[in-house]
Amino acid sequence: MRITMIGAGYVGLVSGACFADFGHQVCCIDRDPEKLAMLKGGKIPIYEPGLEELVTTNALQGRLRFDDNLADAVSQSDVVFIAVGTPSRRGDGFADLSFVYDAAAEVGRALKGFTVVVTKSTVPVGTGDEVERIIREQNPAADFAVVSNPEFLREGSAIDDFKRPDRIIVGTDATGAKAVMGEVYRPLSLNAAPIFYTSRRTAELTKYAGNAFLAMKITFINEIADLCERLGADVQDVARGIGMDNRIGAKFLHAGPGYGGSCFPKDTLALVKTAQDAASPIRLIETTVSINDQRKRAMARKVVDACGGSVRGKTIGVLGLTFKPNTDDMRDAPSLAIIQALKDAGASIKAYDPVGMEQARKLIEGIEFGDSAYAVADGSHAIVIVTEWNAFRSLDLKRLRALMAMPVMVDLRNVYRGEDVVKEGIAYSSVGRER
Ligand code: UGA
Repeated sequence: MRITMIGAGYVGLVSGACFADFGHQVCCIDRDPEKLAMLKGGKIPIYEPGLEELVTTNALQGRLRFDDNLADAVSQSDVVFIAVGTPSRRGDGFADLSFVYDAAAEVGRALKGFTVVVTKSTVPVGTGDEVERIIREQNPAADFAVVSNPEFLREGSAIDDFKRPDRIIVGTDATGAKAVMGEVYRPLSLNAAPIFYTSRRTAELTKYAGNAFLAMKITFINEIADLCERLGADVQDVARGIGMDNRIGAKFLHAGPGYGGSCFPKDTLALVKTAQDAASPIRLIETTVSINDQRKRAMARKVVDACGGSVRGKTIGVLGLTFKPNTDDMRDAPSLAIIQALKDAGASIKAYDPVGMEQARKLIEGIEFGDSAYAVADGSHAIVIVTEWNAFRSLDLKRLRALMAMPVMVDLRNVYRGEDVVKEGIAYSSVGRER
């Protein structure tokens, strides 16, 4: 298949590289000249394990190329994926679809022969209808079908998620488009990943419903964690205990400082807005959004408590800044709200992240950056584990203790067993456990 991928962002780049790896001919289109120059030189603008190698190999073997000429690529393609950004619109929280609609208009002008146009970006219900209308308006005689094919990959394990999905969702009623999509994903269906065909609107909503459910699941266990702290129970055991029930499932029950990232916060908000507009508000998700917003900042209170009631004049060492490990993504990272709240309470902040420092420096002002966990611990009155990078899982606790001005660890990801830390003379608190 000849595939055009519009947008060399997270989803576009990973999907484009994986499709090329399946043996398809893929052209990734992006407007950003700097990004294109990097990609053509074999450099990846984001941090994602394994992606650089995958891109380089497929580019060298001639299956993957990068360009800014959308019209040329589209006119020669069987399938065109739209994988541009859909950020939250400033002010009202609806998804901003201007990039999607601009791409659709350009695609419409360039189409030649039967072409399947696929929205891979996360888009509100009805966007496919609008994409179809825009293409038809640009090119009344065009032979095309618009399909919704949402993506479920996670940052940090994107390639694995793409190549081993639980399912592939294809939203279309057009028989020709179904056959083309079956061909695009054939290597995965050989691996027994089911392709689930449904209507376009249903596919669009399925993506939002999935992310909202996962965000709700995390928020649920976070509230149970707070209750555990009050009642002297252990949230990890509660999570294990309920997770063993197949109807609930063990995943996404890890209590922490609240979900962040480029997807859950944006998608839950967009779903809330869409539902309100449709006069069918989803109160569970409205509540999820507001609990999670408050939670991030509330985590600073844990640190204040662990420091004896005040952090004024104290130095707090923050370990981990990205919204999760194995990414350099800082979007809606809990660290941002926690650091701000600690600064507001009068603390000085030292911070370190194994990969996210460059992005973090652009976003966080007025703090000191250290170049290791130990540099951050040096002179600190408490260290706070905000992101569960592997590098923080086996710290030399004796060395930490010796460096710190006050030996306190607040473990917001429950990485340690409290007794191991306390044994080294470091006061320890975590989330939803007595220790
Ligand atoms: C999420 C979904 O998991 C993907 O399926 C989806 O494709 C993607 O959004 C998207 O819409 O593009 P991602 O945001 O990359 O993926 O990362 P997750 O691993 O889902 O983590 C999101 C946040 O939830 C992180 O801040 C993480 O720390 C937090 N989390 C996750 C918890 O606090 N507890 C958990 O048990 C799991």
